[in-house]
Amino acid sequence: DFTLQGRSGRPAEVVVIGAGIAGLTCAYELGKAGYDCTVLEARDRVGGRNLSVRGGDSLTDINGVEQTARFSKGQYMNAGPARLAQWMVTLDYCRELGVPIEVFTNSNASALIYNPGRGMTAPVRYRTAKADVYGYVSELLSKATNAGALDGELTADDKERLLTFLKSYGSLGADYTYAGTEHRGFTVDPGASGTPGDELGGVPSLSEVFASNVGRYFSFEFGYDQAMLMFQPVGGMDRIPEAFARAIGQERIRTGAAVTDINNTGDGVRVTYTQHGRTRVVRADYCVATLAPHLLARTPHNLGPEVQTALLAVKPSYASKIGLEYRSRWWEKDFRIFGGITETDMDLDHIWYPSYGHLGDRGLIIGYYNTGAHSEVYSALTPAERLERAVAQGVMIHGDKYRTELAASFSHQWKLVPHLEGAWHSMPGGPDAPAYAPLNKPQGNVYFGGDYLSYLDAWQHGAISSARKVVTELHQRVLAS
Ligand code: PHE
Repeated sequence: DFTLQGRSGRPAEVVVIGAGIAGLTCAYELGKAGYDCTVLEARDRVGGRNLSVRGGDSLTDINGVEQTARFSKGQYMNAGPARLAQWMVTLDYCRELGVPIEVFTNSNASALIYNPGRGMTAPVRYRTAKADVYGYVSELLSKATNAGALDGELTADDKERLLTFLKSYGSLGADYTYAGTEHRGFTVDPGASGTPGDELGGVPSLSEVFASNVGRYFSFEFGYDQAMLMFQPVGGMDRIPEAFARAIGQERIRTGAAVTDINNTGDGVRVTYTQHGRTRVVRADYCVATLAPHLLARTPHNLGPEVQTALLAVKPSYASKIGLEYRSRWWEKDFRIFGGITETDMDLDHIWYPSYGHLGDRGLIIGYYNTGAHSEVYSALTPAERLERAVAQGVMIHGDKYRTELAASFSHQWKLVPHLEGAWHSMPGGPDAPAYAPLNKPQGNVYFGGDYLSYLDAWQHGAISSARKVVTELHQRVLAS
């Protein structure tokens, strides 16, 4: 486990700005090493973008639009982070802080693909689309191999082995053609003797398969950050910040505390903030600023023009989700989809089925999880309009129950959330590009931390990694002083 080694004399005082995952990690690790930390959080809750929305939760956006979630007990949506890869350091904190986890289903052969923009008239299952794409690609490669087109690349043995592989990978016939396979699925499932099952018919042509563009989704699950198995905390992602806050000590965390000035003084820092309408000041030896870089750029500070230029070079990018609670889990009963993600070329982008509560009465779907321009479309709408747009698209995939079984909804646009105003960041060249160099080192007594200063932007792993780097550097400086 990560622990700052070597105790210092007088405990140094550190003010951490932002109680997102980066700020909480800083305060937690510094606290373990005996530092005296104060965390200032502008919102009325800890977690930052780690946010689970439950029944009764309200949010007023930067335009003054208020929504209250009417979800039933036990139902929640993770509006921000929602999946953890097995290698991510986030899981080490789940272990250390006692946060139980369960599998999050990120890819599911039974989930759907629907690209009406590419001429598809009905959704297909992942397994069906994969069988067809792999089948035709294998057929073509076999043909090229058998026609001698690859003789310059392959020995006779290589050819033999490649053909053997393609035959099984693509379910090819004896003549190396693809004519469908039971990998595509069944209309009547196999069962008892007398019921061998009916294979799904209607194999599309090669040209139809590539025109539909279903293949574009298959590489997603190869991603180092997206490959199964993945995990989620039991009960909501915000179990993580809650556990951090308990371990740090609630008395060290001031919520509703919006920073209005950051000042390097000769021998420390002076941070001014407002809380309950009053202006207050904290003085400390060091500051770690973990707030969103484009919001830090709007905060008065004396960190200098180079820092300001670097902060302004980090552009926010946008994402959003809508939670749709249903009276019944029709996706499980009617569609036999238990978790996972349906992909579309409509502007809802992705539908997520819940990875908790299987076979229960009610359930909560993520009706859109979209980014960039598609997220912006929904940010420009009222909550009622967002719901209508999402449901109209969902009905095209799942039919009428998508509307008639609906019980409650909550739409969440990161662009519009006070004190965050973004989902993640656009940083051409990555965090080590020269443009960001002033943020990767302390400016006087002020350090910078956050997922944007990592190679895992938009992941808690990135926020934690950045926080660990910063507190390690700060600690080394204190030990040396
Ligand atoms: N971490 C976020 C997610 O998994 C955003 C992201 C998506 C980051 C895809 C990288 C790749 O949804």
